[in-house]
Amino acid sequence: MTAVGIDAIEIWTGKLKLDLAETFAPAQGDDPGKYTKGLGLHASSFPDVYEDIVTMGANAAYRLMDRKGLEPDDIGRIDVATESSFDNSKPVSTYIAGCLEQVFDDDFHHANKGERKFACISGTQSVDDAYNWIRAGRNRGRAAIVIATDTALYARDDPGEATQGAGAVAMLIDEEPAIVELSTEQGYGSADETDFLKPNQQFPSVDGKRSVKVYLARMREALDDFATVSGSIHPDDYHMIPFHTPFPGMVRKAAALGYRHIVRGTDVEDVLAEEIGHQPVREAFDSEDAFNDAIREYTDALTETERYRDWYNQAIEPTLEISRHVGNWYTGSVHLARASGLKVAMEQDIDLAGEKLLVASYGSGAQAEVHAETIVPGWEDEIAALDIDDQIQRRYDLSFEEYEEVHDVHNHAMDAHIEEDAEELTPPEAEFVFDGWGRM
Ligand code: CAA
Repeated sequence: MTAVGIDAIEIWTGKLKLDLAETFAPAQGDDPGKYTKGLGLHASSFPDVYEDIVTMGANAAYRLMDRKGLEPDDIGRIDVATESSFDNSKPVSTYIAGCLEQVFDDDFHHANKGERKFACISGTQSVDDAYNWIRAGRNRGRAAIVIATDTALYARDDPGEATQGAGAVAMLIDEEPAIVELSTEQGYGSADETDFLKPNQQFPSVDGKRSVKVYLARMREALDDFATVSGSIHPDDYHMIPFHTPFPGMVRKAAALGYRHIVRGTDVEDVLAEEIGHQPVREAFDSEDAFNDAIREYTDALTETERYRDWYNQAIEPTLEISRHVGNWYTGSVHLARASGLKVAMEQDIDLAGEKLLVASYGSGAQAEVHAETIVPGWEDEIAALDIDDQIQRRYDLSFEEYEEVHDVHNHAMDAHIEEDAEELTPPEAEFVFDGWGRM
């Protein structure tokens, strides 16, 4: 069977930077350690006043097509995943296709365009849709573009404000992919939850503490479901595990839960037997309760072991590198985590061809999906083409007063402000920018 997967990636970050330790923490009267150590974040990418989910998505998709030498006729499907409102009728993919058509001098009339919404997990769901479309043989030789684009902004003084971010990840899904091959190994955990909502409002209503618990609960269910498809799993089976990363501290909790949960379901009896020198291990205990207590004690202590720290440093830490400097990108976040992990491995000259990833996505509302991917030979060339480090470096570093002004612009006063200040705006040339409704 022909392999189907992610053939190329482009990342586009918002043009502004909000430094959490230097700028945000002092203004909030907080210890910077709350952000840098507690949440694990150093900075957020913030959208400039002429940036939104369409411009960021279009810029990422254009770079993807340009770098891969693709024309509109090569693309049979454009799906956008976003949880940022733009239009309640037309999918964002139509706006993005419209932008691209201006540059390519050709149109996407033949392409199926759509928009997926399920909070942050819809980026992964769109990749799944594209995979299924190709697998079903409906692509007629064409590839799909999936664009995960969000401005993840919170109301001022909301606890989520420190975890903001903005950016887009464009992915080319095709046969004979050059980065990872997708598979049918998937597991889900899903429940009707109200941890994070945005019903016709600009900024989310979020029960932050509860959202952390819901993330972990759905992830545990998805791991159980995944095990029913893949058979026995062990953390060491996967070179890296990119998680949805609203902030690295969340992934620290998810990784610990996942590791304990997987190990409890696999080799825990053997390891305990080795430790206490008794096999079969159950017979060393007076009762089933005493045995269960010993297992619980053992698994609780697992994350304090050197074995766990080594695993974390290989499987998790590299996936967090980009996120620490850009914050939460909602739908793009788990795809940024995958790119981050691969980029760090490339920089360290690690040969990953044939290695597996376990990709752990989450969307509030709520659903988790865990799926397996296999890294394919030549992946390094695609990852080497990313210029995200340069983009991060080039961002304009906001003062707190400037941050307050730009945040206001992205609030509902946006249209008025853009009209008023249109003369003063100096958006860069050679990229898509927003200059008011009807004038894009
Ligand atoms: N030095 C070191 N660490 C410190 C510290 C200091 N000076 N001060 C605080 N900390 C630690 C805390 O102990 C805490 O760590 P633990 O969670 O490990 O205990 C961490 O820093 C954060 O501190 P608080 O819990 O006090 O922070 P908070 O309550 O102000 O905000 C939050 C945390 C509720 C998660 C908030 O960031 C939020 O609402 N975020 C938005 C919602 C979110 O991202 N939820 C994640 C799951 S839902 C999801 O993933 C979907 C999505 O994308 C939104």
